[in-house]
Amino acid sequence: MDDLKQLETEIFARIEGAADEAALEEVRIATIGKKGSISEKMKTLGKMTPEERQTAGPALNGLKNAVTEAIAARKDILRRAAIEERLKNETVDITLPVRQSPAEAGRIHPLTQVVDEITAIFADMGFSIAEGPEIETDYYNFTALNFPEGHPAREMHDTFFFNPDSEGQRRLLRTHTSPVQVHTMESQKPPIRIVIPGKTYRCDSDATHSPMFHQLEGLVIGKDIHAGHLRWSLEEFCKAFFEVDNVTMRFRPSFFPFTEPSFEVDIQCDRSGPTVKFGEGTDWMEILGCGMVHPNVLRYGGIDPDEFQGFAWGIGIDRLAMLKYGMPDLRDFFDADARWISHYGFRPLDIPTLFGGVSS
Ligand code: DAH
Repeated sequence: MDDLKQLETEIFARIEGAADEAALEEVRIATIGKKGSISEKMKTLGKMTPEERQTAGPALNGLKNAVTEAIAARKDILRRAAIEERLKNETVDITLPVRQSPAEAGRIHPLTQVVDEITAIFADMGFSIAEGPEIETDYYNFTALNFPEGHPAREMHDTFFFNPDSEGQRRLLRTHTSPVQVHTMESQKPPIRIVIPGKTYRCDSDATHSPMFHQLEGLVIGKDIHAGHLRWSLEEFCKAFFEVDNVTMRFRPSFFPFTEPSFEVDIQCDRSGPTVKFGEGTDWMEILGCGMVHPNVLRYGGIDPDEFQGFAWGIGIDRLAMLKYGMPDLRDFFDADARWISHYGFRPLDIPTLFGGVSS
């Protein structure tokens, strides 16, 4: 009987000492499991005399029950402790700021923004958007725009040429968006009212020039189109784009092979501060070239110049973006620097509209 008492003390100490459910299971197997110490003792009951069995039987059964209950109780305690521990370790710190979704964290490049603003403004005036190829033939980039062979104006464009193809034709990266004027005339009958945003290429690079840059071309062709329409359209555009009530524009005579007469347009501004301000001041800044479409260009496009006339303009989008949003170096536009884009970029869901303000 004494060794039963000792066994009980030992077993209860092991149960109390079991640190987790796995250790407790080991104690269970070692005691009341098939080959456990208590089970082994119970197997000896059969060999005892009836008198011995009368005391040993209930004692062993009592021990077995007590151990079973103690294991169950300890298991309960361990399970609760494990849950407490998990709750402590797996708490969520709800004071952490929520991470921004890609739609909130992403930024629209200022150039994309400016193109969206410009198209919103011209769409409101009834223009549609046209596009054309960036790899052009000499014909569309120059000849059909009334650049005579060997004319010095061709050299002024610093053209990137490809190697001649098997037929000896030398393709080029378009130096301006003007070739799309001719593509459009070939495929569309007047009246035509289009704007053409797109990439253009010239071999030039410094703080305000990039070998790849962006232009916005405009073309209007109809029966009674005159320079007054040109002037009004550009003034309305500049007011809407720079978000001012008034702009003063100056049309200076100039030369482009594809327009006659041709003008360079300056807008009055204040250049005394760190950024250029439009709608005030006494300085002038040149912003675009324009003119009445040359009769030869209409002919190249398959349009009769005795019946139709029109106007066109070309404007540098990169420069407009720099002026409006105060970005000093054009090369930053194409550096893919995440800090620059997060500073100068626009929120993806703020789409420019005339009623909402083009830049807000
Ligand atoms: N294509 C000219 C350039 O890149 C810009 C230009 C000037 C376009 C006058 C026009 C225009 O349509 O009428 O320098």
